[in-house]
Amino acid sequence: MSLNGNRFYVTTPIYYVNDIPHIGHAYTTVAADILARYHRLKGDDVFFLTGTDEHGQKVEKAAAERGKSPKAHADSMVENFKFLWRKLNISNNAFIRTTDTEHVKTVQGLLQELYDRGEIEKRGYSGWYCVPDERFWTGKDIIEGKCPDCGRPVEQIHEENYFFLMSKYQDRLTQYIEDNPGYILPETRKHEVLGFLRNHALGDLCISRPKQRLSWGIPLPFDDNFVTYVWFDALVNYFSATRYLAPPSDWWPASHHLVGKDILTTHAVYWSTMLMALEMPLPGNIFAHGWWTVDGKKMSKSVGNVVDPNEMADKYGIDAFRYFLFREVPFGLDGDFSEDALIRRTNTDLANDLGNLLSRFLTMAEKYFSGVIDIPPGSTTALNEIARSFINGSLNAFKPESWSHLLFHGILEDIWAYMVSEANNYIARTEPWKLAKGNPQELKTVIFNLWNGLRMIALFVYPFMPSTAEKMWNQLGLKSLVEEVDRSGINEGEEFPGIFQWDWKPGYEISVSKAEQLFPRIEKPEEREQKIEKKKEPTGGKHLLSSCKPQHQVNDLKTKVTELVVEGLIGIEDFAKVQLKVGKVLSAERVEKSEKLIKLRVDTGEERQIVAGIGKAYDPEYLVGKKIVVVANLKPAKLMGIESQGMLLAATDEEGMMSVLGLDRDVRQGARVK
Ligand code: ME8
Repeated sequence: MSLNGNRFYVTTPIYYVNDIPHIGHAYTTVAADILARYHRLKGDDVFFLTGTDEHGQKVEKAAAERGKSPKAHADSMVENFKFLWRKLNISNNAFIRTTDTEHVKTVQGLLQELYDRGEIEKRGYSGWYCVPDERFWTGKDIIEGKCPDCGRPVEQIHEENYFFLMSKYQDRLTQYIEDNPGYILPETRKHEVLGFLRNHALGDLCISRPKQRLSWGIPLPFDDNFVTYVWFDALVNYFSATRYLAPPSDWWPASHHLVGKDILTTHAVYWSTMLMALEMPLPGNIFAHGWWTVDGKKMSKSVGNVVDPNEMADKYGIDAFRYFLFREVPFGLDGDFSEDALIRRTNTDLANDLGNLLSRFLTMAEKYFSGVIDIPPGSTTALNEIARSFINGSLNAFKPESWSHLLFHGILEDIWAYMVSEANNYIARTEPWKLAKGNPQELKTVIFNLWNGLRMIALFVYPFMPSTAEKMWNQLGLKSLVEEVDRSGINEGEEFPGIFQWDWKPGYEISVSKAEQLFPRIEKPEEREQKIEKKKEPTGGKHLLSSCKPQHQVNDLKTKVTELVVEGLIGIEDFAKVQLKVGKVLSAERVEKSEKLIKLRVDTGEERQIVAGIGKAYDPEYLVGKKIVVVANLKPAKLMGIESQGMLLAATDEEGMMSVLGLDRDVRQGARVK
């Protein structure tokens, strides 16, 4: 039951059962899980749907290769997805299969309705067909006889087919996207769709396949010689599930459809116009995230670089894997996957910053107070700066816009900057070990504050790392996190349940206890090998010298420095002329009529305006609150008539995608970068 009466419905794509799930499938599904868990935490009533797309040529072909019927093939493949979702702690409320009888009936019902309304027409057709993508192309689209999307050969086909009269919705759809700025996100993707709609004539959509060519599909209710085009069948899942898989009540429209950028057109154009023709409400948002590559290459079986999420979760832990996916790359941009990066993130953010914080706290609480936490009776909010920082931090991390725009990366950054780092700094500042020698009252307050801070951190990381949050919660002497959130209730006018307040009290005695380490440090394979090698070395004079040295110095002794040839070398005195400073972005907005320019107000110790050409890679909202590096003594210049007082630093990859330079640790604005 919902605490506040709000309803939240999130979906993932339904995945093809022609192959086993990989990291891309895991990515979208974990993203939906993060949203679902956050909304449950807030007290909303949540329906979270995922499932499988089981009709069409791809699946028919895969089944034939395995010598199975398509349904028997789907029945076995679907278990791989269900297994993975259980493993990754995915809290979906329902799992839809497009072979479900109720789904088939809904698809046929909607097709009949569109046909009766004159929205579907039969026509002779000739076109170029890409079998693997199950898509028709015109002669203009194809490139040297190949599919413009996947590059595989296309076949010319002449046949009669049924068409959904999609073209007549072109203007209405364009207008709808313009009027509803949050309908397609991130903004860059919205611009892509709008650009397409403004510059191309939208065709009608072929929604049938003759049975003699493809039998594995839903028969058209008005012509038994045809089956339904797989996308028409698949997209309807989002609606059909609400009729037989959701708890009774009206769940349509969905709040968010999460998809990869590969299937944005089918959602933003096909699905939206289908709904318009049916006079049904459109979803709240379609969010198209970026693509994971490996070593810069598309994952593919033939290259042998497909990342198996099962293996990653087994090797590095479920929560470390979940955290990495959303901390490493802003949701919406492409990212390159590497195990090295995953190990680095786990060791620094999770083992070092978070895990050590909890462990240090528990050791102190046990040593000084035998684990018993003294909870002050009155209000504690006004008492101390850590409370203030946590309250500010939590307001930042859980800003409604950050969640409605799915800025997971920024949310995690804020939790670490304002909460985890703040708690670590608080220990360094208050030096509890010194207080233990003569100030027991102050020590009690410090230990309570740390306990409360860690309690808040557990709540905030819960959507991303649910089992870590529960483990923290238990080690802090608290009962089930989820149950306690529900029990704490929401007060009138509040956004979050009472448990999110600094002043919340459990109502029972608290005794903390140290259990397993949250995130044991992971050794890279080469580190392990180095250790083994070291053990093998005899301790002769020569080796004694190197074994006394830190590892990096040993390497230095062995490595010869290669000579660098760089043109245009400058001296340090030239570099010193450039004043680089840390700036904090106070606000950001797009420059009108420009796709590239964003106008920022930046605090670099003094407030200034900067106009930067990063609009294709960033949404303005994402930049607000970020720390960046600014060239502070650049002569002012005008860009599209707007003055820019300095320049921010950004890197550009081969594809022209930009990445703004940030800082590894939080440093105050105005600090010099040298
Ligand atoms: O397209 N990086 O199913 P599908 C990130 N059945 N995400 C990736 C990815 C990658 N490299 N590869 C795949 C279909 N994905 C249709 C959908 S919906 C009504 C029908 C994710 O099995 C991403 O979410 O090919 C992408 O959109 C989806 O998997 C495609 O899954």
